[in-house]
Amino acid sequence: MSANDFEAVQRADGAAVPVLRPREGHRLVVMSGDHRSSRLPGFSKLTAEERLEAIAAFAGLERHEIEPLASIDGGLPQAIAANMSENNVGRFSLPLGFATNFKVNGRDYVIPMVIEEPSVVAASSFAARLMREDGGIRATSTEPLMIGQIHFPEPPPEQVLERALADHLGELRETLDALHPRLVAAGGGFRDARVRWLRGPDGEPIAVVHLHIDVRDAMGANAVNSMAEEAAPMFEAWTGARVGLRILSNLPLHRRVHVCGRVRLRAGGGELVMDPDEAKRIVEASRFAEADPYRAVTANKGIMNGIDAVLLATGQDFRAVEAAAHAFAAYEGRYSALARWRIEGEHLVGRMDLPLALGTVGGITAVHPAVRANFKVLGVSEATRFSEIVAAVGLAQNLAATRALASEGIQRGHMRLHARNFAVQCGAAPEEVPQVVAAMIAIGKSDLETAKRCLKEVRDRLCGR
Ligand code: MEV
Repeated sequence: MSANDFEAVQRADGAAVPVLRPREGHRLVVMSGDHRSSRLPGFSKLTAEERLEAIAAFAGLERHEIEPLASIDGGLPQAIAANMSENNVGRFSLPLGFATNFKVNGRDYVIPMVIEEPSVVAASSFAARLMREDGGIRATSTEPLMIGQIHFPEPPPEQVLERALADHLGELRETLDALHPRLVAAGGGFRDARVRWLRGPDGEPIAVVHLHIDVRDAMGANAVNSMAEEAAPMFEAWTGARVGLRILSNLPLHRRVHVCGRVRLRAGGGELVMDPDEAKRIVEASRFAEADPYRAVTANKGIMNGIDAVLLATGQDFRAVEAAAHAFAAYEGRYSALARWRIEGEHLVGRMDLPLALGTVGGITAVHPAVRANFKVLGVSEATRFSEIVAAVGLAQNLAATRALASEGIQRGHMRLHARNFAVQCGAAPEEVPQVVAAMIAIGKSDLETAKRCLKEVRDRLCGR
């Protein structure tokens, strides 16, 4: 594809926007910059190359930023990969796609997602479209506070540890902040410390000091682990007690995101609205997941389908986020659903609260070229705003999965997607694909042989006309 494949059209406000020249009856207007819109109708019907051009136009990517997204090495040069982890032999690819239609706090986002499971990207895009009205999904987040744990396996008497902390809190703050001037300059640093008392399996007391660290736009593991290690000898000197572990907690209970999305209800359904009966079934499904850990874990897995896909595309520590999400889901003492859907007046309303430790700086965000490009597509630099988008994708994924489960089930949709892939694989032209897919669904089989047979039938039928 070349620049010739695009033409400039004048929008109502006078700005020129790049438009893909019509191909196979599709015409995609890409609005970028201040007027950027993640509504990209017909995006799924473009070729992979055309989609990438559309994403590039949306995000204003330069040629060198587009290349890592299309490259066969997954955008990670071997020289960089070789130094990331040990015993390296190469790289390992997964599909990268972009979910459209997202509006979070009034701003449009196209979402990079790395995932091998069919339907997830399409489902997120679909649910985001349903929730686009009235500013789209609303999200709020707390300050990016992480917890560092200092463990006392044989703790001093309660008053000694509590007193030491109270007497030396200022000194602790000054020492730790002085050791992390860059974090402090960025607006972060030590915030507070608390003592927690636990009982071990044998009933013996265990004490833990929690350091609360504002890590700003980093995921924060490095800064928090360093501060825990730096603070430990100070506590040993103040209390005379031995410190055990010094490590961050992957349950960042104070680093939270809240998302809320709603869909308008209208009897009979229609575009961008939902029939109240359908909404009622979604609420029933939600109540089931809230009540039953066996269902909750599956519903939460669906949420993580969306979240993990964005985390992989943006080079995040997805293991930390997974661990936190499930610990949080069980925090009240019983594992439950992370998201909850209810009918409120004229809307189906979904809400989700989640601890999210994400970074827009540090880790591999600076060194992985595809991760850098994906962040540019997202257009976020603050970790808090990034977390709001990630949580919004999780909520959208939950809505799409719950809606499918509460109506026709998920297998039909999966089959349609598989059938489409097979139709394309066996050489069906874009205008033939829907007919081939319909024929395969009617037969109830989704494999390459059936696709070939159906394509032949579709062509024979057209010739016989
Ligand atoms: C499949 O990967 C995810 C779902 O099972 C989620 C859910 O059940 O809500 C469909």
